[in-house]
Amino acid sequence: MAYNLLKGKKGIIFGALDENSIAWKTAQHCKAEGADLILTNAPIALRMGTINKLAEEVGAPVIPADVTSNEDIENLFIKSKEHFGGGVDFILHSIGMSLNVRKNVPYTENNYDFTHKGLDISAISLHRVLQYAMKHDAINEWGSVVALSYIAAQRIFPDYNDMADAKAMLESIARNFGYQYGMKKHVRVNTVSQSPTRTTAGAGIKGFNGFVTYAEKMSPLGNATADECANYCVTLFSDLTKMVTMQNLFHDGGFSSTGVSQAVIDHMED
Ligand SMILES: NC(=O)c1ccc[n+]([C@@H]2O[C@H](COP(=O)([O-])OP(=O)(O)OC[C@H]3O[C@@H](n4cnc5c(N)ncnc54)[C@H](O)[C@@H]3O)[C@@H](O)[C@H]2O)c1
Repeated sequence: MAYNLLKGKKGIIFGALDENSIAWKTAQHCKAEGADLILTNAPIALRMGTINKLAEEVGAPVIPADVTSNEDIENLFIKSKEHFGGGVDFILHSIGMSLNVRKNVPYTENNYDFTHKGLDISAISLHRVLQYAMKHDAINEWGSVVALSYIAAQRIFPDYNDMADAKAMLESIARNFGYQYGMKKHVRVNTVSQSPTRTTAGAGIKGFNGFVTYAEKMSPLGNATADECANYCVTLFSDLTKMVTMQNLFHDGGFSSTGVSQAVIDHMED
């Protein structure tokens, strides 16, 4: 059911790789709520993924951009201003990648070239996006930027590896740039800390199925799905949440506030 929450709004969605991607679902929900979109992803992901299918479905152009490239991000904002004839009202940053995770390098033995790359893609990219958006005045007054995070930024999940450090940095950038962009143009910046979700990035984490089941048992409402996350992002892009900024917002069925649940106690006593 749609409410026209984003009628007349324009947005850029980073990170739709395939049908499971949180960004993919968010693009569909934003469209259903009346938004006009631009989709973007790394050139290699565009070759491997199925983004053209989504582009057709939501009637959006696809502009390639590797988030580690200043030129690509600058070009994206120049093109988006041309396409929309002005700035955008919202941006979704739904991007994460750790080479240490991908190559099974334990946290205590991290390869720092991999760490640098992972931080650049997963965290610094939010700064880069905001910096070039500001430079090109590419986000409208009261615009909304959301980046996706995970609770490993606050608590230890050993197999989340250096992505935990990347998420801590991502959330910090959201606060710091949120202050600057808020002061300058009332643009708000938040992170949404989502339940474990079965996607390409999620499945890369060692023991991911155990993660999902544990979180499901620990959350009074159960794990939040990618579709539900997309709905939450829609509300954050809408004018109904216009005074929310510089926050890390848990979208996790209550997991983050739960010490232990009856289901976990029962399991331990088995
Ligand atoms: N899946 C989960 O359990 C979960 C939980 C909480 C938060 N998140 C976060 O949600 C976000 C989206 O991940 P997802 O689970 O939808 O997985 P996904 O694999 O579908 O999305 C990750 C995206 O990052 C893109 N990306 C990687 N390197 C890039 C680069 N250099 N330039 C541009 N884009 C690049 C990929 O192409 C892909 O589209 C990530 O930030 C992830 O950490 C995921």
